[in-house]
Amino acid sequence: MLSHEDNEALVRVGPGTPMGDLFRLYWIPFFPADDLEKDGQPQKVRLLGEDLVVFRDTEGRVGLVDHVCPHRGAPMFFARNEDCGLRCVYHGWKFDVDGNTLDMPAEPARSRFKEKVRIKAYPCVERNGMIWTYMGPEDEDSRPPLPNVEWNLVPEENVVITVRVQECNWLQALEGEIDSAHAAILHGRIDSEGAINKWVAARDLRPTFECMRQDFGMSIASKRIFDEQQNYWRVNQFVMPFYTLVPPMSNFPELSGHAWVPIDDENTLCIMFSYHPNQPMYPRTKEIFIEGHKGRESGHASRHAYEPKSPMTPFHKYWTKFKLENGYDLNYELQQSTWFSGLPGLWVQDAACQSGADPIYDRTKENLGTSDTGIAMTRRVLLEHLGAYRDSGLKPERYDDPDLYMVRAISVKLDKEQSWSDDAAHFMEARLGEGFGYTP
Ligand code: FES
Ligand SMILES: [Fe+2]
Repeated sequence: MLSHEDNEALVRVGPGTPMGDLFRLYWIPFFPADDLEKDGQPQKVRLLGEDLVVFRDTEGRVGLVDHVCPHRGAPMFFARNEDCGLRCVYHGWKFDVDGNTLDMPAEPARSRFKEKVRIKAYPCVERNGMIWTYMGPEDEDSRPPLPNVEWNLVPEENVVITVRVQECNWLQALEGEIDSAHAAILHGRIDSEGAINKWVAARDLRPTFECMRQDFGMSIASKRIFDEQQNYWRVNQFVMPFYTLVPPMSNFPELSGHAWVPIDDENTLCIMFSYHPNQPMYPRTKEIFIEGHKGRESGHASRHAYEPKSPMTPFHKYWTKFKLENGYDLNYELQQSTWFSGLPGLWVQDAACQSGADPIYDRTKENLGTSDTGIAMTRRVLLEHLGAYRDSGLKPERYDDPDLYMVRAISVKLDKEQSWSDDAAHFMEARLGEGFGYTP
């Protein structure tokens, strides 16, 4: 349970809010690079409650600027993306990716007014198919290097990344993936054929949890008894400020996780990544991610899931047909006969529960059990960081060290006397180009 004040502190992300300020210390991944064409139509986005448009100029550079023209407020959504800049269609003011005003055609030819006016612009960097932005303090000195997140460093053929919008606060989504107690239940099936069912039958449903605070965030380890000699450990990671990493499972193991990027207080951009650390993604797995499996969704939003909104809606291409309004396509008959939840696939099951009945959950009403320890501790970490920054200007330690983020989630069998935090610590370090180091 959280106090109303703590809940508010964690869920509000706009400019000037404590959590919003903390987020603004970090680079934020927010747009698939392939979805932005040179001189193509500007796309509306919203990040941390700020409305913006993103565009790629004639030279291929990416700009992220205010959605309102600084002249007299025409929407920059209508702007012409031409000749290395974005030109407002109202009076033709033109801006470059850095926010400089290049042209004011209705002003006197010798006017120096354009040197005085800028459009708000955030720096963008593109790396391996993902566009990142930094919305923090403007001086270059306080801008850290891009974080070395492994999913965005491995070769392109090793990784699948999908993006979708979820209609809930970022923390609800993040908490859903820290919590590994739900997996065997929510994602289970009630007939005898499902792989998850065998997993449930073979191991016990009541894992015990151990959490460990880390410089990067938090490790949440769950222990299940494997046999007389060994325990089966699954360690999920929370990585500041909004990443979760999920351990490998199945015969075709891969690493996966999410960046839960706050669009505003009530919507989240869910960037899901799955990757193999040292080989191309298995073609069949990739196909299932993109196409779904027998009409159902996997952990990724398939291409059939998308239901684009009007281009005036932020991230309009990444909305899906699964939403609270239509009950996430719950099939009650299937719930009775086959699937524990009756919801059509993995991510939809997660989204339906994470999004809850309201976009912002009132955590004064919850009742946390022992399996929620990781969630409670992750909130503590976030509250401590935001408090330290808000009250004393103290930034999280090593937040600007790119290698802090080289972390993996693990699923490993260890002898009973071994400890996950010592004996499996090296498996949790992401070493670029190297495999798991154990058999998942
Ligand atoms: S409002 Fe944009 S140029 Fe006038
Ligand atoms: Fe899940």
